[in-house]
Amino acid sequence: MDITKDIRYLGVNDHKIDLFESQYIVPDGMSYNSYLIDGGDKTIVMDTVDGRFVSEWLDNLASALNGRKPDYLMVHHMEPDHSAGIYAFMEKYQDAVIVSSAKAFQMMKNFFGTDWSERRVVVKEGDTLSVGSHVLTFVAAPMVHWPEVMVTYDTTEKVLFTADGFGKFGALDREGEWDDEARRYYIGIVGKYGPMVQCLLKKASKLEITKILPLHGPVLSQDLGHYISLYDKWSSYTPEEDSVTIAYTSVYGHTREAVKLLEEKLKAKGVKFTTFDLARSDMAQAVASAFKTSKTVLATTTYNGDIFPYMREYVEHLTERNFQKRKVAIIENGSWGPMAAKVITSMMEKSKEIEWLGTATILSALNESSSSQIEEIADALSK
Ligand code: FEO
Repeated sequence: MDITKDIRYLGVNDHKIDLFESQYIVPDGMSYNSYLIDGGDKTIVMDTVDGRFVSEWLDNLASALNGRKPDYLMVHHMEPDHSAGIYAFMEKYQDAVIVSSAKAFQMMKNFFGTDWSERRVVVKEGDTLSVGSHVLTFVAAPMVHWPEVMVTYDTTEKVLFTADGFGKFGALDREGEWDDEARRYYIGIVGKYGPMVQCLLKKASKLEITKILPLHGPVLSQDLGHYISLYDKWSSYTPEEDSVTIAYTSVYGHTREAVKLLEEKLKAKGVKFTTFDLARSDMAQAVASAFKTSKTVLATTTYNGDIFPYMREYVEHLTERNFQKRKVAIIENGSWGPMAAKVITSMMEKSKEIEWLGTATILSALNESSSSQIEEIADALSK
């Protein structure tokens, strides 16, 4: 597949994977992208692929090279979904040289027992490399998503190779709207590192970019402003829309009844919401939703003097990703000693700019008093 006049796609689709990074469901599979830049008298390969697909990737490369030999392998990111093929590549192409950051070479030594000290070019922020007719500039992107990460700007064709940045769940042979699966990917995997992504976006804003070439998901070539604007919102923890994420756990259905009452009241007020039963939903989707919307309701039971395990896990996912700048309400249920509000507020103590919209306390089942507290929460959410 040709991406531009000189850039070919070498990547693979993975439909066999059960959980990406051993935790994220990927119903539409996953792509591991890799590219070849053909600069005429020199060529460079941009990253490798996951270990289960190295042989397929080497075949793709051989076919794109059409009898030639590659001069360079650029390694943007050492996570094994992109780096697993380095050793096989270096064995097959004995004259090739690896280009990467100093940190990445340290990781190569850890992963492969060698950093190919005789066959390497160490690059840092601002360095350039001529690959035939193409001049590449390297940009440091630490913690997007590991510390060694670099991105590469091809000044000749004005395209940006963004490593995990602008990646998306889903294989390339499946149709799929970008925003939802890119958000779930970003919030799950890179969400903690917003300030570092902001820093990269700032550097990228100085470049004229015609295409974004990530290591997962489609090449982006139309309406780049849309994708960059979403990345700006996600990495600055700015809500995408004024709506509500309702996340709940319920053991015997009484907390669910309270959530249903809240839903009815929100519907009547014309407030948009999305609800997740945390025991039965994709946790990553529920987490991503809280970062999309401006308001969150956490409804849960007291459990062993704490909160129900799925809610504890959910709040931990939020806080470890720096959940902030949001309005939050709590519905707590406890038959003899409701603890959820106390536990949740303490778990979110360090979360910045959280505006608490109130708590409804249910003692076992809804009654007049708790129903009226839910009405008050619905009022606050509608403002
Ligand atoms: Fe797709 Fe951080 O690896």
